Amino acid sequence: MLTLTDIAGDPLVLTSRLRLRDGAKAVLRPLVHADAERLAGFLDGLSPESRRLSTFDGYDLAAARELCDAIARYDKLRLVLEDESSERIVGLFELSLALTAGDIARYRAAGIRLTERTDCRFGPTLADAYQGGGVGSLVLPLVLEAVRRLGRARVILWGGVLADNARALRCYEKNGFQLVGRFTGPDGTSSLDMILSLT
Ligand SMILES: CC(C)(COP(=O)(O)OP(=O)(O)OC[C@H]1O[C@@H](n2cnc3c(N)ncnc32)[C@H](O)[C@@H]1OP(=O)(O)O)[C@@H](O)C(=O)NCCC(=O)NCCS
Repeated sequence: MLTLTDIAGDPLVLTSRLRLRDGAKAVLRPLVHADAERLAGFLDGLSPESRRLSTFDGYDLAAARELCDAIARYDKLRLVLEDESSERIVGLFELSLALTAGDIARYRAAGIRLTERTDCRFGPTLADAYQGGGVGSLVLPLVLEAVRRLGRARVILWGGVLADNARALRCYEKNGFQLVGRFTGPDGTSSLDMILSLT
């Protein structure tokens, strides 16, 4: 079973090459310390609508540095999708091996007992120009393979998905996620919990 320390020590263990629908070559690989500036470029380029659908602590170099500083220090694994020709980061796929008390309580109310032995959290974000073209569905199986290798068997959506995020909902549904329930966030927005079982 892979650990976050193993992955940070040898990012190649989770590096895959793929071709996007237009034939462009891309690489999915773990975020590395040298990515801070390119990651800042990705965050900075996200439109207000993408930032509403997928929220980060910040969208600048300081925020990118924090994400790079977190490599192998906490519970997070961040995979980036890099366009090979431009060397730009065009997607960020986040996994957390930790669960929050809120997640555990909401799923329990729906009859699902989450544990950190079996479950993890997942949140995807593509650059605006890469959304809606099947890239998410292309990358998801690779992320799920990483989940398997980390020894986890189920994936829940990190913070849920906003109920009005029709494209993400469709992407999750068609890739096997199941609806668990609806909840209201601290800001009054309606979100949905979804889970995918790998077994
Ligand atoms: C969510 C995200 C990763 C999905 O990746 P993607 O490459 O866009 O998704 P896909 O193209 O594989 O799948 C989207 C599906 O929704 C459909 N779709 C697109 N726009 C839609 C809309 N407005 N309403 C309903 N369905 C829609 C697509 O046709 C496709 O379904 P199909 O293959 O059956 O035709 C990506 O859109 C993204 O980064 N969005 C912004 C950030 C975000 O929302 N993150 C998730 C937070 S929970």
